Amino acid sequence: MSNIAVELTKHPKEKPADESKIGFGNTFTDHMFIMNYDEGEGWHDPRIVPYGPISLDPSAMCLHYGQEVFEGLKAYRTDDDHIQLFRPEENFKRLNVSNARLSIPPIDEQLCLEGLKKLVEIEKDWVPHIKDTSLYIRPFIITTDAHLGVHPGHHYLFMIILSPSGPYYAEGLDPVKIYVEKNYVRAVKGGTGMAKTAGNYASSLNAQAEAEKQNYSQVLWLDGVERKYIEEVGAMNIFFVIDGEAVTPALNGSILSGITRKSALELIRSWGMKVSERRISIDEIVEAHKNGKLDEVFGTGTAAVISPVGHLKYGDIEMEIGGNKIGPISQRLYDELTGIQWGRLPDPFGWTVRID
Ligand code: PLP
Ligand code: COI
Repeated sequence: MSNIAVELTKHPKEKPADESKIGFGNTFTDHMFIMNYDEGEGWHDPRIVPYGPISLDPSAMCLHYGQEVFEGLKAYRTDDDHIQLFRPEENFKRLNVSNARLSIPPIDEQLCLEGLKKLVEIEKDWVPHIKDTSLYIRPFIITTDAHLGVHPGHHYLFMIILSPSGPYYAEGLDPVKIYVEKNYVRAVKGGTGMAKTAGNYASSLNAQAEAEKQNYSQVLWLDGVERKYIEEVGAMNIFFVIDGEAVTPALNGSILSGITRKSALELIRSWGMKVSERRISIDEIVEAHKNGKLDEVFGTGTAAVISPVGHLKYGDIEMEIGGNKIGPISQRLYDELTGIQWGRLPDPFGWTVRID
């Protein structure tokens, strides 16, 4: 067991009075986890301290060249008032995949998980109580070297912050409208699309702003070379149910390997339903819609959970899916996944990790 020092705040904040209005990522708890990396010393001084601003040199390399990685997971309050995490070891494993791509030294996944559990235990009263709320967890790493040369840093900060949150989309479980992006691209093979790193999101903002202007929630990205094959949505992976079969784009090096995607695949397989991971062209989706075979479309993500897509727009083609209502596969996945996450259903896969 490692030594994680704890300094508790002397000024605890008021918790949100009305949990139905917390939104997503607006409020932060009283404490955070922090750990430093210095070349020659490795990761050191893991500690839990009062939440607050950090000081950075204006030349800190993360501010200039975006050497940063992050993760997103949640802690859930069960009906019998226990707190649990969902597959947290997968997030730290993926953080190391992102680290490898961004030239950031690997973290000790066990130590980070231990730090996270300790932090959530200290903050357990911040895990909200009402339906569809949870404590969103954001681990991240930045390089702090005060230097303007373009090289991997020698000094890093790893932090975990916590935010009591409600649904990511204002729509909740109501179907969202998604816009297929034709002009901008998010990622290409050999780029950073498979990593969870700030630059991917920064380069998505023009398209996101345009989608919002046209009253769509997010964009669906096509591959960066041929602009033909479906990749993923801004903050979630995407599934289609075509003629009774679930399909999702294969992990091809330019999309994020979503943990909700992986869980959805495992759930669908456990039902004995056909599901495949393969290349899917936007033309195939348009054709399936035209032939009445596009049964359902839904996104999967930690923040987005299972998010039915009711409208998909590709150029001038506007597709309404399933009468803009949640379909049976999306509903069943939502019920089973959230049932396991909030402890309302048994967890035959061993995905949940109890904190208390
Ligand atoms: N794709 C992108 C670009 C994301 O930001 C996310 C959210 O984390 C996902 C997919 C879904 O991944 P996960 O299910 O691990 O949250
Ligand atoms: C998540 O689902 O955890 C994400 O990171 C999405 C985010 C960009 C809000």
